[in-house]
Amino acid sequence: MPADRSKIAIEKLSEAQAKSEYRRLTTELAAHDERYYQKDAPTVSDAEYDALRRRSEAIEKKFPKLVTKDSPSQKVGVQTSGRFAKVLHAVPMLSLGNAFSDEDVTDFVERVRRFLKLGDGDIPAIVAEPKIDGLSLSLRYEDGDLVTAATRGDGFEGEDVTANVRTIADIPHKLKGRAIPAVCEMRGEVYMLKSDFLALNKKQAEAEDTIFANPRNSAAGSLRQKDPSITASRPLKFFAYAWGEMSEMPADTQFGMIQWMAKAGFVTNRLTTLCDSVDAVLTFYRKIEETRGALGYDIDGVVYKVNRLDWQQRLGFVSRSPRWAIAHKFAAEQATTVLNDIEIQVGRTGALTPVAKLAPVTVGGVVVQNATLHNEDYIKGIGSDGQPIRDGVDIRIGDTVVIQRAGDVIPQIVSVVLDKRPKSATPYKFPQICPACGSHAVREADPKTGREDSVRRCTNSLACPAQAMERLKHFVSRLAFDIDGLGDRQVEEFFADGLVMAPADIFTLQKRDARSLKKLSSREGFGATSVRNLFAAIDARRRIALHRFIFGLGIRHVGEGNAKLLARHYGTVEDFRAAMIAAGKGPESEAYRDLNAIEGIGTVVANAIVEFFAEPHSVKAVDDLLAEIEVLPAEKARTDSAVAGKTVVFTGSLTKFTRDEAKALAEKLGAKVAGSVSKKTDYVVAGEDAGSKLAKAKELGVAVLTEDEWLALVGDR
Ligand code: IVH
Repeated sequence: MPADRSKIAIEKLSEAQAKSEYRRLTTELAAHDERYYQKDAPTVSDAEYDALRRRSEAIEKKFPKLVTKDSPSQKVGVQTSGRFAKVLHAVPMLSLGNAFSDEDVTDFVERVRRFLKLGDGDIPAIVAEPKIDGLSLSLRYEDGDLVTAATRGDGFEGEDVTANVRTIADIPHKLKGRAIPAVCEMRGEVYMLKSDFLALNKKQAEAEDTIFANPRNSAAGSLRQKDPSITASRPLKFFAYAWGEMSEMPADTQFGMIQWMAKAGFVTNRLTTLCDSVDAVLTFYRKIEETRGALGYDIDGVVYKVNRLDWQQRLGFVSRSPRWAIAHKFAAEQATTVLNDIEIQVGRTGALTPVAKLAPVTVGGVVVQNATLHNEDYIKGIGSDGQPIRDGVDIRIGDTVVIQRAGDVIPQIVSVVLDKRPKSATPYKFPQICPACGSHAVREADPKTGREDSVRRCTNSLACPAQAMERLKHFVSRLAFDIDGLGDRQVEEFFADGLVMAPADIFTLQKRDARSLKKLSSREGFGATSVRNLFAAIDARRRIALHRFIFGLGIRHVGEGNAKLLARHYGTVEDFRAAMIAAGKGPESEAYRDLNAIEGIGTVVANAIVEFFAEPHSVKAVDDLLAEIEVLPAEKARTDSAVAGKTVVFTGSLTKFTRDEAKALAEKLGAKVAGSVSKKTDYVVAGEDAGSKLAKAKELGVAVLTEDEWLALVGDR
């Protein structure tokens, strides 16, 4: 048996052994990083992780040739180990006991009354508020300034996420008002709106990046980022509802504290209500339960807290939950149903996505008949990290399954009731050919990890009708051509009837309709007015911004952000088209190198664009479209300014311009604006009260400019 490589001392490794051991460590570290950062569910201790990391670094030191840009050591980290620093909570962050029925709530109030020895008729006033389904955060302010932000962790020790938290607009950097206690630890919940979560997932899907299961995971994943500029780009929000260490108390009731927090600059939940009887509490609960769907954010219950703080003090805690508060949970939104079929949908980039067709069932007041099955491995019971999910149980047609509306949004299958599995049920065979066009569908190997991609794709991007139709839907979508009155349904109809098969057809529709015997206005669902409006909406888009045009092409990996980078770099559609065709000559061509050198455009993206333009069919579709429309030039990123190609960080309160203005100007001049200071930063522009970033800049020897010096540098003065 060969020796276990993981045990061989580095000095004894041959070059070949080192190579394979290094590959093993890199893959393992990447998997640990994903579990830690994306899933918030590490499977090894920090010490074990650090040991792997040290071994990987030792190999790099001895065999520097092995280092690539994807090596663990080349990734940005908060600390050298890539993990967050630990913060000990001055006052532990405890959890709440649960109530599941009205009786549990009555019991809770009774317990409080008995403990406080209240008289028969004395009902303690209770603050009722929604229980936000996010993650709790503790914010420490000293002399009114935010100094540390920490996650809950195990309740006693959390993680330092200060740099990331500073990018959340709802969280003040400085407390407002005069008599601010010297130490204030404000606590509350970081969350994401359901609409923001859906939009983020859409963007992530376009960029083929991590998809989040629900708003809670997406908030956690966004907060726990190594790079604060990524957190900054995620729409995180915060409700304040509790506190930790306070050097003085600004109020003597729970309700008074919430009012004070609002005055100090926090967002507090407007539904928070002071109740004076058990009936009032239960009425509040029912009202919230009925309206929760319309709230915009996920909640998983209602929290009741005794209003008087001196009573809270007396009631104290039992084990790890307060006696003065309880969480009244909503009934779990799960239901059992039968999986009738698995349908395969073909996406714009050829991805085959399985969808569960369920016997209709009501979950939390909504009828569910579809659930996502993600991909082939998911059906088999294997997660994206190769680890078992649902205890490794596969999903078969005919199975009885438990479904859940995850975070209220996307229904998912949480488990299979094996006792009810029909004898005839067989493991699901994922199709190897595209159900829309019959071409081979394959799982490509990820060029980075060498691992098989979890997505199976149709290989016939040209003639696959499903892909062509999805590309059209993408073309008319909001961030692309955004044509009013031409939504998914109309695209499907027009495509099925052969009226619109490619983007250019949209712009010739009116001309063709004028000559046609079967007028659009005679179609079901269309009247003369709606057709007139549709043509007007199409005409309005005959002039289009370059980035929308590029995004609309639906090239793999080219999301809105990359489309903007490309538009700013090439300026006009003519230059863009010519450069992309020239780049097709190969990675040695100047055009390819120029494309790959755009900050933010990596090899994977560059290759996808070049592949698209290498296809005569795509070029024809682009040219046909260009014959019908005018693409407006983008403002080109300048390469001649003093800050072109430089990385700039703005910090502190700026007085000469807003953050957005500063960013827009810098980007226009060809600079890259980052959210955190690192060795790669060229300039830090520091306004008033600049804090940790300024300190970091000084520590790293990065040039620090005042606002005026910055303006002088960019020649705006
Ligand atoms: S009060 C001492 N209020 O629920 C207890 N918690 O199970 C302080 N949560 O970790 C917590 N909304 O993340 C409180 N309005 C609310 C809440 C809330 C959500 C979460 C919080 C905490 C968990 C407790």
